[in-house]
Amino acid sequence: MTQVTPYKDKKESKKAQVETMFDNIASSYDRLNHILSAGIDVLWRKKAIRFLSQYEPKVIMDMATGTGDFAFEAMRLKPEIIYAIDLSVNMLDIGQQKSVKKKTTDTIKFIKGDAENLDLESNTIDAITVGFGVRNFENLKTGLKEMNRVMKPGGHIAILELSKPRKFPIKQGFDFYFHNILPIIGKLLSKDNHAYNYLPNSVEAFPENEEFISIMQECGFTESKWTPLTFGICAMYTGSK
Ligand SMILES: C[S@@+](CC[C@H](N)C(=O)[O-])C[C@H]1O[C@@H](n2cnc3c(N)ncnc32)[C@H](O)[C@@H]1O
Repeated sequence: MTQVTPYKDKKESKKAQVETMFDNIASSYDRLNHILSAGIDVLWRKKAIRFLSQYEPKVIMDMATGTGDFAFEAMRLKPEIIYAIDLSVNMLDIGQQKSVKKKTTDTIKFIKGDAENLDLESNTIDAITVGFGVRNFENLKTGLKEMNRVMKPGGHIAILELSKPRKFPIKQGFDFYFHNILPIIGKLLSKDNHAYNYLPNSVEAFPENEEFISIMQECGFTESKWTPLTFGICAMYTGSK
């Protein structure tokens, strides 16, 4: 897999660059996310939480939580605790402020952490959610294996990730929007000139569908399946252990 980094000319690791990028765009992230996806991202998270609801998970980890939208949606599952983990302190700060307003601070614990090296005991998490995070991991397999380690046997994971639609005319329309319009809006509204070029470039290089499923299996997940969402713009990957 080609390693795509936000700032091509910089020498730092992908992880350090991703952390800097999300720290830079944190204050505009929510607004841009909803503008650029026309609010559909909300429906995708709801769908993943509906999938997990059948298992009634009590201990949840929302990996790469960012500003916490997946964790807030997971409150519908009435869990005892949600570990909302991310590399970017600025994203976490906004998540924590939203949590205070939503009165969810007793349940959602925002924690700075790295998906590839978690400070959590093995076999302790009932359900894991990851929204648009795995594409940003420096080492995808290390991150997936680490999430598998902390998940209980019989636990479940739901991963959302952007993907490339394949059918005419959605493919052509989406490609044009994603490569020509989105980077311009992103540049205008965020404080980072590179972040919204990194987005389409990283989606382009990322393994998807069956290829992603075989990586999940290699990393220890069982019953792995993928479901295309909204004409294949997004995919939901689910698995167990
Ligand atoms: C596109 S945002 C997604 C935020 C949120 N999950 C959502 O659905 O809107 C991706 C997040 O992944 C985080 N991230 C990337 N690599 C990570 C890692 N190795 N460990 C933890 N978080 C990571 C970034 O800091 C960023 O906040």
